[in-house]
Amino acid sequence: MRKSRTIWGTAVMGGLVGLTGAAGGCGNDSQTPTINAAQAMQGQDIFRSDTFGDETFWTDTLHLNEVIQSAVDPTTALKVGLKVDADALPADVVAGVQDGSISLTDPATTVALLKLGAVVGVKGTVENVNGTDTLTHVGITCALCHSTVDDSFMPGIGKRLDAWPNTSLNPGAIIALSPALTADQKAVYNSWGPGKYDPRYNQDGLNGPVVIPPAYGLLGLNKVTVTGDGDQLEYWNRYVAVTQMGGHGTFMEPRTGVNVTNGTDDLVSSQLPALQEYQLSIPAPPPPAGSFDQAAADRGKMVFEGPGKCATCHSGSLFTDANSRLHDPSEVVSEPEPNGEPSYASRSATKKYRTAPLRGVWQHPPYFHNGTAPTLEAVVETYDSRKSLGLSADQKADLVQYLKSL
Ligand code: HEC
Ligand code: HEC
Repeated sequence: MRKSRTIWGTAVMGGLVGLTGAAGGCGNDSQTPTINAAQAMQGQDIFRSDTFGDETFWTDTLHLNEVIQSAVDPTTALKVGLKVDADALPADVVAGVQDGSISLTDPATTVALLKLGAVVGVKGTVENVNGTDTLTHVGITCALCHSTVDDSFMPGIGKRLDAWPNTSLNPGAIIALSPALTADQKAVYNSWGPGKYDPRYNQDGLNGPVVIPPAYGLLGLNKVTVTGDGDQLEYWNRYVAVTQMGGHGTFMEPRTGVNVTNGTDDLVSSQLPALQEYQLSIPAPPPPAGSFDQAAADRGKMVFEGPGKCATCHSGSLFTDANSRLHDPSEVVSEPEPNGEPSYASRSATKKYRTAPLRGVWQHPPYFHNGTAPTLEAVVETYDSRKSLGLSADQKADLVQYLKSL
């Protein structure tokens, strides 16, 4: 059922101009979807701090608390892309990092940061065991992969940017630290690299990581994930919370045969409505001032809508036709996958791809689900050659400026 919503802030209102249809796939009325601010605030807390009980997996199964305690100093943690929330650091810690009296090469400092709740997306329980602060439990939250920081304090440490993908995070390398995995499993996890994760490997055994996408700019879009597997964020949020994070609850999908239940309780279902509302409340970030050439972007818009034929799929205010159709892999320029990996679409529920929404696309290289285009220039070159568009060098350059302006 369509929820009654109130407007959440002027930034979202600004982003809503021209939108039609209800968020979350319910109903076909043409009212502007709006956000319930109180529910979204509750969802922010879930997004940042709820593990849904996944300590069962990260602690009891993977034993990552022991690895962190003994071997992961802050320098190592920052190297695998973990981020520190500067707002969670008390003044004496800030001063200690600045004057060097707090060591960034001592795992005990990592434990101290976890105790402060300062490591983005990682939730630790620190208890005094025989006089030593000990990380007895560790779990992860949605913020691990879908948040970064603005580096305002130092690289890797700053203010939270929720819903921005953490493009430097190496989730595979983090999981591979676990002593509970086989050498073959570790090799797969270590093969992914920064900014990528395979959210199906532990279900279908195939290896083909995808780029961690943003969780912003999704209001009004009724197909989620690059393959449009669900009509609502809640669908995929449940999938990830249960099958990937190890949260307590159930996910079932007859189209792929995935059927997972963790625990005997359900710590996921009740959190999904607010978690979804929070994500929907976050608009795509506008391009930084001066980051593109406006005159070239204006010309590029003509290329996008004309000889580039981009708008035939990237249509409407969200720059996607996803609400009405998905596309066969044969129509999509990002396949075949690199390195002989299996088609990602073939592993999904729909076997197709969703036209990617393009708002905020300046922010999150590399592009395409498999990251095969490192820049927007490479995206345009790929379309020009794969679709035989015959664009001139000037048209391609203008098109890139337009993409940077979205
Ligand atoms: C280990 C990293 C990781 C974690 C943790 C994670 N995600 Fe994701 N998320 C991904 C990847 C990778 C994809 C892309 C999958 C796809 O599109 O097939 C994704 C896709 C998404 C999407 C789809 C975006 C779109 O454009 O349709 C949303 C929304 C999302 N995640 C939200 C969440 C939420 C909420 C949580 C916590 C319950 C979460 N994620 C936890 C890695 C992660
Ligand atoms: C046949 C429909 C179609 C046409 C035409 C099309 N696109 Fe796409 N576009 C897609 C699909 C589907 C994806 C997602 C592919 C993937 O995830 O691998 C995509 C992805 C992208 C991305 C990457 C977004 C991201 O988040 O990684 C960009 C940028 C893009 N297209 C720009 C363009 C431009 C510029 C043109 C015109 C030259 C164009 N597209 C033409 C369907 C289309």
